[in-house]
Amino acid sequence: MSDATNQSEPTLVLDDRPSDDSSYRVLARKYRPATFDDLIGQDAMVRTVSNAFETARIPQAWILTGVRGVGKTTTARILARALNYELPDGSITAPAIKMPAIGVHCQAIMESRHIDVIEMDAASHNSVDDVRQINDAIRYAPVSARYKVYILDEVHMLSTQAFNALLKTLEEPPAHAKFIFATTEIRKVPITILSRCQRFDLRRVDAGLLVKHLETIASREAIEVEPEAFALIARAAEGSVRDALSLLDQAIASRVRRSMEPAREQTGGRCGPLPRGPHTTTFPYRSPIQRPAQATGPRSVVAAGAKCSASTHKEG
Ligand SMILES: Nc1ncnc2c1ncn2[C@@H]1O[C@H](COP(=O)(O)OP(=O)(O)O)[C@@H](O)[C@H]1O
Ligand SMILES: [Mg+2]
Repeated sequence: MSDATNQSEPTLVLDDRPSDDSSYRVLARKYRPATFDDLIGQDAMVRTVSNAFETARIPQAWILTGVRGVGKTTTARILARALNYELPDGSITAPAIKMPAIGVHCQAIMESRHIDVIEMDAASHNSVDDVRQINDAIRYAPVSARYKVYILDEVHMLSTQAFNALLKTLEEPPAHAKFIFATTEIRKVPITILSRCQRFDLRRVDAGLLVKHLETIASREAIEVEPEAFALIARAAEGSVRDALSLLDQAIASRVRRSMEPAREQTGGRCGPLPRGPHTTTFPYRSPIQRPAQATGPRSVVAAGAKCSASTHKEG
């Protein structure tokens, strides 16, 4: 759960696309957690959800909030998977938080293509008509899964009328239906909606945990990166796992084989603007979750120590 070093090889293709697609997947998509054990830094939420499942006190709606890249969409899919966990031999007949093997519905749910798990981007489907469609369809039983799960991402973007249209269904959905909302801006979600949901605040992930996570992924990718580069990336990511993985992708892509020394000398190990020298590679990357005040100044991350020694990343 919290220790990235405990992670085993992913058992699922942790991606939104079908598994036979062999094109390159960015690290953030390739390493999307498939179980609660793979999620890092969200122990409090995982504990509460586990207790709810174990005592069969599963609410009809959850709302997940937090800055970008901390696991909201991932958690929503894992919840949908847990709600519908079922093995081919029929031995599991209720929602399960422990999912040691790939269940009947798991792969389709994690790839976001299961017929009973409906993912809707509320930013682009924010009208009252969109919610009416949910209200109409929710009455029908799931096709193959145990529960029909509606995942509404960026739910704060729904129009006022759309929120109002949702209230009744959210209050008393059919027994076969569950809602999972995700939002980066919980303050924009009406209190009437919030009061019908169980709320989880996903936290920014601690830099130490991020470093461990990056180390695990780099070793799985057979990429050698100097420890200091991990620390710089983790700090620049400001708690967002997705940002950290995007930066690692960039570090790998830069194919730098230089020593970390020059960067360390110039920065004292801290992130910051650096003159571009023969031994340094700077990322003109700005974390999207930086506060506006910080984001205005020039900022770059130095990861000159990203030594890529994997055969696929050798310098020509
Ligand atoms: N808590 C986490 N533990 C492990 N990986 C995470 C976590 N949060 C995000 N990630 C990584 O970042 C990617 C994007 O996460 P996502 O759940 O889509 O974030 P968001 O909170 O923006 O919905 C995931 O595919 C995964 O690689
Ligand atoms: Mg998301």
